[in-house]
Amino acid sequence: MKSICPLGNFLLTIGLLFLATSHLQAQPEIAIIPEPKTIENQEGSFTLSNATRLRVNDAALETTASLLNDLLVADYGVTLRKGASNKNGLRLLLDPKVSGEAYTLTVDPSGITITGSAPGVFYGVQTLRQLIAPTEDGTLSVPCVRIEDEPRFGYRGLMLDVGRHFYPVDFIKKFIDVMAQYKLNRFHWSFTQDAGWRIEIKHYPALTQLGAWRRSTQHERERPEGDGIAHGGFYTQEEIRDVIRYAADRQVTIVPEINMPGHTMAALAVFPELSCTGGPFAVQHTWGIKDEVLCLGNEETYRFAKNVFTEIFDLFPGDLIHIGGDEAPRKRWSVCPKCQAKIKQEGLKDEHELQSYFVHWLSDLAAAHGKHIMGWDEILQGGLAPGATVMSWRGEEGGIAAARMGNPVVMAPKHFFYLDYYQSQDRTAEPYNIGGYVPLEKTYSYEPYGPQLTPEQCRFISGVQGNIWCEYIHTNEKVWYMGYPRALAVAEVGWSPAAKKDFDSFRSRLVNNLYRLDREGVLYRIPEPAGLYEAEVRDGKAIIRLESPVRNAKIYYTTDGSDPWVYGKLYTAPIEVPLGFEGVDVQCIVRLESGRASAVYKAIPKPLTEGQ
Ligand code: ACM
Ligand code: ZN
Repeated sequence: MKSICPLGNFLLTIGLLFLATSHLQAQPEIAIIPEPKTIENQEGSFTLSNATRLRVNDAALETTASLLNDLLVADYGVTLRKGASNKNGLRLLLDPKVSGEAYTLTVDPSGITITGSAPGVFYGVQTLRQLIAPTEDGTLSVPCVRIEDEPRFGYRGLMLDVGRHFYPVDFIKKFIDVMAQYKLNRFHWSFTQDAGWRIEIKHYPALTQLGAWRRSTQHERERPEGDGIAHGGFYTQEEIRDVIRYAADRQVTIVPEINMPGHTMAALAVFPELSCTGGPFAVQHTWGIKDEVLCLGNEETYRFAKNVFTEIFDLFPGDLIHIGGDEAPRKRWSVCPKCQAKIKQEGLKDEHELQSYFVHWLSDLAAAHGKHIMGWDEILQGGLAPGATVMSWRGEEGGIAAARMGNPVVMAPKHFFYLDYYQSQDRTAEPYNIGGYVPLEKTYSYEPYGPQLTPEQCRFISGVQGNIWCEYIHTNEKVWYMGYPRALAVAEVGWSPAAKKDFDSFRSRLVNNLYRLDREGVLYRIPEPAGLYEAEVRDGKAIIRLESPVRNAKIYYTTDGSDPWVYGKLYTAPIEVPLGFEGVDVQCIVRLESGRASAVYKAIPKPLTEGQ
């Protein structure tokens, strides 16, 4: 078979997983994401049923046990009663000697044992969920296996920008629930933007009374006038405490972001006196970098920041607090008498050092509350605060510089990890987005230990994060579409050993996992069928062999330019089409078991000739 498109190469080896055509699986498959450190397949399987007894050896595992039971009831109608059975048992065992997030999972015909640290046992349960396969007699089959597993990186994050569009608590919980299933453990909750202030600050009720509402949204940049529909919302501290508990039960720590000194128009609309010019301002309804930022020569700004962050430090139990720091233009500071006086008074060289002074000040404030700050890579400018974590987003350079200085780093370079970028080059088949092009394979390909780093410097790479910026993502559905399946690639980059990374294997493991996510109502982007960009060219014909990207999904196609949603034939055998000067016109959709279908994907984007 001749690949005619570079993308095609990775679609080749998907293999037998696609052959399963029924909801029930005769032979349970092992298709775990993220790929565990070691898997030893063994003969046979264990049958999980209402007769299976659940044993927990430590109260620290009770929450994990009850979450597992809730899932088994919801997904399969199976309830495990507590008991000490050595035969037919599911044992969750805390091992105090195991540190970090490691676990061992053993399945043999007498039962299932998951041993590890408390987070490790939670992750063992997530692995188990991916091993369970319903059988025809209504029981659940789990293949015999021994898995030893632990993450490559401690920080495995996803960011959601709720500042530009507000997402309700129920959605946030589901978002956290799905990330936790894939062993992602940091939810970077970005609360403030020019377009909205989304977190209750008791000291300043007006921040959310006025600052949480924008008058309009562009949705598409071609329509600068926007839609004229006011929207917004915010989270009360009580709601946030509830989410913190929910996340902690799933081993997810929340990293809250309150962005200063830039991207503060929502706050400045409420308190214009904190700017250099005095305003007046409005909460922004267009995307972009705004010149108006906090005045760093005004003592009121420091009082404001202290009052806000003190509430943040008290509310969030995690060690890391994100202070933003990106995209703060120096324009106003350079002509503001107060900012210039501050520069002189503190012996600073320029406006970069003024921002750095402010970030150092925030870092000291955090330290006084037992916390550490994290910031976007601009916090390097003018001098990095000791101990501050750098989130490298414009590329890897900021992260590399910080690691060389001995500061912790989270790698989130936009060309790999900006999940608001397009997933396909065919933009007509994609919802409107900010731009860029980050296909699944690109996200998957990221290696956090770049060749520029010595092994000693690599120790400062804490992990990776995928970012979902939401100026053009205004619905829950679109968050799922943009976030998944790329978030699963982030998860595997963050968790799996580098030596086990293999995109073909990942694609084949997606087949089962996307099936599960469809059943969970996660509205991910359905990948193109394997083989779509490849053809065997023989006797004047192109022969295209397609494989479904999701278990039990069906492919419908046309070969005459007509719409496969209307005229599509069910794919059951390789498509043979005559080669014309224009190439072939094969179009298809992938329809999931739930009924949801993909956009129309076009095969063979260029003419073919024999032997090409
Ligand atoms: C960013 O994307 N401005 C951090
Ligand atoms: Zn100023």
